[in-house]
Amino acid sequence: MSLDQLMAWVPAGSAEAELARQIHPDRLPRHVAIIMDGNGRWAGERHLPRVEGHRAGIDAVRDVVETSARLGLEVLTLYAFSVENWKRPIAEVSTLMLLLKRYLRAELATLLTNNIRFNVIGRSNELAPDVLEELGAAEHKTSRNTGMLFNIALNYGGRTEILDAARRAIASGIRPEALDEQTFSEFLYTKNQPDPDLLIRTSGEMRVSNFLLWQIAYAEIYVTETFWPDFRCRHLLEAILAYQKRDRRYGGIPPATVGAGAGGRGL
Ligand code: IPE
Ligand code: IPE
Ligand code: MG
Repeated sequence: MSLDQLMAWVPAGSAEAELARQIHPDRLPRHVAIIMDGNGRWAGERHLPRVEGHRAGIDAVRDVVETSARLGLEVLTLYAFSVENWKRPIAEVSTLMLLLKRYLRAELATLLTNNIRFNVIGRSNELAPDVLEELGAAEHKTSRNTGMLFNIALNYGGRTEILDAARRAIASGIRPEALDEQTFSEFLYTKNQPDPDLLIRTSGEMRVSNFLLWQIAYAEIYVTETFWPDFRCRHLLEAILAYQKRDRRYGGIPPATVGAGAGGRGL
């Protein structure tokens, strides 16, 4: 898929079309990761129970997944349930799991039409058998797709992932001297995937909440005040445009100052 596919999808003359027109197709992030936050506050503002916010959040997931695939992103990772989220009331956790199952059943056809490969990251073995079955079916049915990889982070924790990777590395019998950043990353849940270039968090919180701790080492961070249930194609395009204006240095100096000596700009 490509920017053209997105242009064909958004209404001509819309705000989305104008934003899409400004995107540089050759400087797209390869991997976008999103902390979908603010469902509870969205519901609270409307005097609704928190679970109504989760229900409304499904529409945002649908829109963002399709936008990302059409745009031509290689990987989209959505943080759906953290290892810490088990602290929530049992009724809220059960509704989240139920919504996930319903989403997968309802959206499988769209995932297939858009050539999207679905993949779960996290300690999925700790999930209930009915949820696991639904997840496994979606992974299996989309496994031959060659377009965007859609990771859903479920029962996910960044520290847990690093611990699991360390355990797998030890169990593999790898010699300690052979372990470097590249080989270690092959033991992570995101093996063979590019690291996120852009990390988006909705609802204004300035924290990473244990998400992809290893992989976001050099991700550009974008926080929007928009609550997740209100997040749509337009907001994703705004985030990507902001990303395209960033100066990624990876610890170096801006290209314009290379060779400029002590008199150059910058520190
Ligand atoms: C994000 O919204 C959804 C999950 C964590 C599953 P929240 O439920 O955290 O909403 P707020 O942050 O309480 O508004
Ligand atoms: C992060 O949101 C987890 C997910 C989006 C799944 P939380 O709402 O759980 O994070 P905190 O508690 O505000 O850090
Ligand atoms: Mg939250």
